[in-house]
Amino acid sequence: MTTPPPVLVVDFGAQYAQLIARRVREANVYSEIVPSSMPVADMLAKRPAAIVLSGGPSSVYEEGAPQVDPALFTAGVPVFGICYGFQAMAVALHGEAAHTGNREFGGTPLTIAAGGGVLLRDLEAHQSVWMSHGDCVTAAPAGFTVTAGSPGAPVAAFEDTERRLAGVQFHPEVAHTPHGQEILRRFLYDIAGLEPTWTSNNIIEEQVAAIREKVGTKRVICGLSGGVDSAVAAALVHKAVGDQLTCIFVDHGLLRAGEAEQVEKDYVAATAINLKVVDASATFLGALAGVTDPEQKRKIIGREFIRTFEAAARELDAEDHVEFLVQGTLYPDVVESGGGTGTANIKSHHNVGGLPDDLQFQLVEPLRTLFKDEVRQIGAALGLPEEIVMRHPFPGPGLAIRIIGAVDEERLEILRAADLIAREELTAAGLDRTVWQFPVVLLADVRSVGVQGDGRTYGHPIVLRPVSSDDAMTADWSRLPHELIAKISTRITNEVREVNRVVVDVTSKPPGTIEWE
Ligand code: XMP
Repeated sequence: MTTPPPVLVVDFGAQYAQLIARRVREANVYSEIVPSSMPVADMLAKRPAAIVLSGGPSSVYEEGAPQVDPALFTAGVPVFGICYGFQAMAVALHGEAAHTGNREFGGTPLTIAAGGGVLLRDLEAHQSVWMSHGDCVTAAPAGFTVTAGSPGAPVAAFEDTERRLAGVQFHPEVAHTPHGQEILRRFLYDIAGLEPTWTSNNIIEEQVAAIREKVGTKRVICGLSGGVDSAVAAALVHKAVGDQLTCIFVDHGLLRAGEAEQVEKDYVAATAINLKVVDASATFLGALAGVTDPEQKRKIIGREFIRTFEAAARELDAEDHVEFLVQGTLYPDVVESGGGTGTANIKSHHNVGGLPDDLQFQLVEPLRTLFKDEVRQIGAALGLPEEIVMRHPFPGPGLAIRIIGAVDEERLEILRAADLIAREELTAAGLDRTVWQFPVVLLADVRSVGVQGDGRTYGHPIVLRPVSSDDAMTADWSRLPHELIAKISTRITNEVREVNRVVVDVTSKPPGTIEWE
């Protein structure tokens, strides 16, 4: 797919590279991540608009520490060094870095020199920035102006605007550096001279053109899961090739209240997409009967999903040959799998294996260069329903892994009722966007004694698991207001007859996971 010349974010092995790439895109400039092991010639072959050297865990003078090839600085490409990248840049250009023993970690006072250069101009002279370093730059390379310092880093920012090179010791990409995004923008616009042209509308236009070119007049299918990625991928392809696209929605009967209807009615109303709905809930529930092991549940759901999808795809193919399959693969999946080409696995749906080899389609992956927040913006720009675009992540195997114990229709109904109440109240409290995900779990094999009205009850507990997170790799339990938890608890125990106890999970990840299973 066509993309503009990228700002390359060179990953020195820190967890910050993806965040930097996202921040660059938030400044409406296209970015891509490359490993620091990539030779400079290969980086330059990508015709980069600029290069950002990320932070990393190494110490610059340590044996085996990733270095920066000085050739990077003579190619005429603007470069911005951050933290380790800043030190590596200083060393490569014959400045000095040293292990002074003055470690700085966390919020650190920065003092901006008079003027502040281009990068820090007009910012308050004293401000807090996020630091995380043991080494520091002790002498800037020749030709650079030092524009800021901190107690542990005498050279905390430098720039050579003529050569379009700059760097900072702190992390402008994290929210704890209040002016970080402004500083990054100044590098991109004022030092590198880039234009903020990477916008939802431009992305849509480019992708639509690329999809048209790839697909031509051939037919395309796409599996919808109810989640945002497949919904946006399909909408983009539909905008490009209209009725050449048919979507397949396998209703496995494990979705939450109202979600199948969202796909079948609201999504279709918003897009006018051709949708083939396969109601396979009876098959899935039959195959899951009596199964309690979560991995076993996943395997069964994966297997049944592939069978059902394959049958539907073959039917469509028999009517009129299908050449392409749309996948909602996102950029983080591409980066995390080493940038590989990817095979036809419907990962977002169930995380188990791919379609059989004899069902070969060419892939169309219009979200392959995008981060989740960009996908949401594009979904909104394409007019998709807010309930789909802003939907919290939801596991492919659905409510099956939120029922601890065997899955059956009665238990699903109990969980759907409780889950709906939790979602309604979270929305009413205006907290949908502060919470990353809010699993509601039914401990179906646990019972405890309660008292309701005049009678003794012997019901099931429901677990509330609201978490905050950036990427689901780590998470913390959300500190929801007590009044909100009280309201959810009261409503669930009043309205869902089989539940007589509501508990809140106060475990972070690690050691817990987000889902209970
Ligand atoms: P855990 O429970 O491992 O979850 O902390 C991390 C994220 O992954 C989601 N999740 C799944 N998604 N298939 C999926 O498509 C699965 O089997 C699965 N298990 C967990 C979970 O909801 C969270 O966002």
